Amino acid sequence: MCGIIAIVGKTSVSERLIESLRRLEYRGYDSAGIAGVVDGKVERRRAKGKIRALEEVLSDTPLTATVGIGHTRWATHGVPSVPNAHPHQAGRVTLVHNGIIENFAELKADLQAAGRKFESETDTEVIAQLIDSRLDAGDAPLDAFKTTLDRLTGAFALAVLIEGHDRLVLGARRGSPLVVGEGLGEMFLGSDALAIGPFTNRVVYLEEGDYVAIDDTSARIFDEEGRPVTRPVKVVAAAAALVEKGNHRHFMVKEIYEQPDACQHTLTAYLDPVKGRLHAPGDVDFARVERLQIIACGTAFYAASIARYLFERLAGLPCDVEIASEFRYREPAVTPGTLAIAVSQSGETADTLAALRWCQAKGLKTAAIVNAHESTMAREAGIMWPTHAGPEIGVASTKAFTSQVTALTALAVAAAAARGRIDEAEERRLARVLLEAPRLIGESLDVEAAVTALAPKIARARDVLYLGRGPMAPLAYEGALKLKEISYIHAEGYAAGELKHGPIALVDEETPIIIIAPSDALFEKTVSNMSEVVARGGKVVLITDETGAHHAPAGADVIIAPACDPLIAALVFAAPIQLLAYHVAVQKGADVDQPRNLAKSVTVE
Ligand code: AGP
Repeated sequence: MCGIIAIVGKTSVSERLIESLRRLEYRGYDSAGIAGVVDGKVERRRAKGKIRALEEVLSDTPLTATVGIGHTRWATHGVPSVPNAHPHQAGRVTLVHNGIIENFAELKADLQAAGRKFESETDTEVIAQLIDSRLDAGDAPLDAFKTTLDRLTGAFALAVLIEGHDRLVLGARRGSPLVVGEGLGEMFLGSDALAIGPFTNRVVYLEEGDYVAIDDTSARIFDEEGRPVTRPVKVVAAAAALVEKGNHRHFMVKEIYEQPDACQHTLTAYLDPVKGRLHAPGDVDFARVERLQIIACGTAFYAASIARYLFERLAGLPCDVEIASEFRYREPAVTPGTLAIAVSQSGETADTLAALRWCQAKGLKTAAIVNAHESTMAREAGIMWPTHAGPEIGVASTKAFTSQVTALTALAVAAAAARGRIDEAEERRLARVLLEAPRLIGESLDVEAAVTALAPKIARARDVLYLGRGPMAPLAYEGALKLKEISYIHAEGYAAGELKHGPIALVDEETPIIIIAPSDALFEKTVSNMSEVVARGGKVVLITDETGAHHAPAGADVIIAPACDPLIAALVFAAPIQLLAYHVAVQKGADVDQPRNLAKSVTVE
């Protein structure tokens, strides 16, 4: 997944292209580049690495143009390098691309057979070569563009400059998001509304298959059949000010500390604090839902896996949760009474979006729990259930995760009430428990000092195991994901009861075993697991509450989180594992907000 931006402007665009790329850097940061029309020619400036490397190139060789495009890359085809950095150029065509062209190899072979020379290893360059070959054949720009689009299979969001057409940018969207921004005598294209937020709040969301020609004052939009179409202009509240870290060292820790507010704001969409009742927004009657099928990736999958315990235990609702990238390829036997729920912070994750569309094609009712309320999933799902975490910039998801768990927990209680599994008194009690969550999440942040002291010991580990039971098992998986994705230490999560069926072979004096165990109904079982580990010389880190701390084995490191109702334990025990991963990564000098090889929104399959 990459970020793209285009500006047809009245004044110099270089600085504004860079500002947009900074807002898009969460989508990938392997390389970056811009291009602009200078005296009728299109000039490029590209750099390997992050935006700041590109800024250094621009300070040496400024680019003065009023029409330009920009790109920040997460490498799919071709290593991160200047030749593989976008924008790519072929003859009169210069363009930027987000997505993957699945038939690029055969197209490239045809073009090479026709004598065309390639400078990069990327799939993207094929698009530029194709358009230029159509221009050679005498096509007008829009025809050359459309003919090319029809030959591509795969996903793309594009912005294209063509020499000789100085005030024109062509754009297209298939499988990767692209928005049009309407300014005052200026027009914009961007991967999302945030990218063009500093320039305009008037946004047009292109639909699948749309392509567009923008100039100083207009955007001519066409559907995939080539018919002129009008798409609604929306006034969005995209943050015009770049999201800042404030006095925090990294976005990740800032966002960990924003979790009490994120939880509180998310609850407002599902819980009426005056009535003390919960509800599911939109057209859904849980009394008529026979089964839930939740699809998600990464951290969102673990949030959904926690919810499975609640939907089944509280609402008596069968609930399957599956990794989106596996779900549709196994052709699941879904039944008509199933409600499919996609969970996604970005609302653009290609695997999850494809699984959602698969469910829709099967005629299932669908919903999407998303943090980006104008995202593709938000617009395509039958119901949009929001999280209100605010923009999450750190690649490692934290406040979005607890906001997802908050929304799912509220929905599970609402479902239990709707299905008559709990009476009004119990619903009100659980609502009060949920209302305590923001405060208890805030109190759980007090573990930071203890976690910071522990971090150097974990930072020396080669492998780390995370264990949990019940809803703490998915939290163990999430804790392992946090650690591995920002500190690069190998970590695995396991259901604590599973340890003795193999993973215990990994236990030695060098491997920290992090056990997430509030003093709940399963705690005694977990104490047994701790004994198994200690008996083999394992080093236990027990994350528990005051009561549980009395059962910590001798020599164990103990992190004490606030005691809480089991309904919200995953919310209250999230910050300790997030802060542990964060401080270990800081110990290791890792790039916490932009870990290697990762990106915030994975819009390719
Ligand atoms: C989480 O820390 C990771 N960045 C990643 O697993 C992420 O949760 C996953 O890619 C899903 O993203 P989404 O919520 O935007 O769909």
